[in-house]
Amino acid sequence: PGPLNMYSNKNEGPRRGRSFDSMNIGLEEKLLNNEVRIFFKKRKREQHVKLATVIFSLKNEVGGLVKALRLFQENHVNLVHIESRRSKRRNSEFEIFVDCDSNHEQLNEIIHLLRKHVNKVNEGPAGAANITSNLPWFPKKISDLDNCANRVLMYGSELDADHPGFKDNVYRKRRKYFADLATAYKHGDPVPRIEFTEEEVKTWGVVYRELNKLYPTHACREYLKNLPLLSKYCDFREDNIPQLEDVSRFLRERTGFTIRPVAGYLSPRDFLAGLAFRVFHCTQYVRHSSDPLYTPEPDTCHELLGHVPLLAEPSFAQFSQEIGLASLGASDDSVQKLATCYFFTVEFGLCKQEGKLRAYGAGLLSSISELKHALSGNARIMPFDPKVTSKQECIITTFQDVYFVSDSFEEAKVKMREFAKTIKRPFTVRYNPYTQSVDVLKDTPSINSVVEELRHELDIIGDALCRLNKQLGV
Ligand SMILES: [Fe+2]
Repeated sequence: PGPLNMYSNKNEGPRRGRSFDSMNIGLEEKLLNNEVRIFFKKRKREQHVKLATVIFSLKNEVGGLVKALRLFQENHVNLVHIESRRSKRRNSEFEIFVDCDSNHEQLNEIIHLLRKHVNKVNEGPAGAANITSNLPWFPKKISDLDNCANRVLMYGSELDADHPGFKDNVYRKRRKYFADLATAYKHGDPVPRIEFTEEEVKTWGVVYRELNKLYPTHACREYLKNLPLLSKYCDFREDNIPQLEDVSRFLRERTGFTIRPVAGYLSPRDFLAGLAFRVFHCTQYVRHSSDPLYTPEPDTCHELLGHVPLLAEPSFAQFSQEIGLASLGASDDSVQKLATCYFFTVEFGLCKQEGKLRAYGAGLLSSISELKHALSGNARIMPFDPKVTSKQECIITTFQDVYFVSDSFEEAKVKMREFAKTIKRPFTVRYNPYTQSVDVLKDTPSINSVVEELRHELDIIGDALCRLNKQLGV
């Protein structure tokens, strides 16, 4: 801006005896010591009129100040006093001090708009970046998953000495092939189609056949509803291993979930982050053929027969995504608790349907022996309660000590939602399906934009009810 030194609103009369430097020492220090560029403090001048002070900085270029001040005019905010001065921190910038009369809503709108404008001019970090800068990194948009989908903790192509395929060089080479495919995968690519070997199809066939004998009496109704659809649309058959790309396309149409290939175990934080975007990380290799009914790690049989049928269920998809959203930016301790709840629901959860226990957890629905055990009447069953469940030990190598039962996914979702509120985070997040990104709700402008969307949704409901009433002649 030009060297505008003072502007006074006519109604207010010129202010005397106050200088930018002397009256705002507290704000001044903040301005010099951190990256936040906009401050405001509100002082009660009269009972109902609030005087707000906003300070922001602009690059010294033509038109910058005019653009910024226009924001006040467009929001009908009455400017009382303006001062500007060259920035002590960066000589190429000007700091602008504005006193204005405004209500809280107007002020928030101005700050929101100004922040965009100032950032554009200064290319400085946004307010959101400051709020989240001390938190663990988390993906903000779906393509950010490219940064965390390859941080495989275990297996991948390296097998432990007790892995059934450890001494089988052909198997290890095959695993390396799958690991390389997953590592090269980028968001937006189709999942590579695999030409499975005869041996792999045979292994899958044994698992498929044996599990299908148990499903009618052991799997929950949502599972039993979706499995035939997968046979119809994705070639789930005893003599065919379905392709993840076909499954991903099917799920996208049902619930918006998509599949990303992964080489092996991800950390709980990285895995849960995928769920926030309705992305499910799936292994694509097949377990070792020496024991088709045992695997020490997830394989494509576990993903396809355990997880996929339920990911096609809207209420379950929502439940999974909510766990994922709660994990973004949470502390290690909170992520661990959420991962444990995930383990005892999505992997080992039970529900009650028509008075009978049924399985919906993928770890159960892909393991013949544990599925039988969990519903045998001998297993310890407790009601799902995130506060209790999150403290339970997860067992990978043998059956669980205890299984948790919910009446429905809806009930589990409500409980998880309440639990998520207890997680300490200075903001909440909301998934934006239009941009496939998470909106960080950290201030009133970002919350207001959600309110606007909700108003629109309520309008649609109102309109629908109106039309229905007319049809019914009410
Ligand atoms: Fe799993």
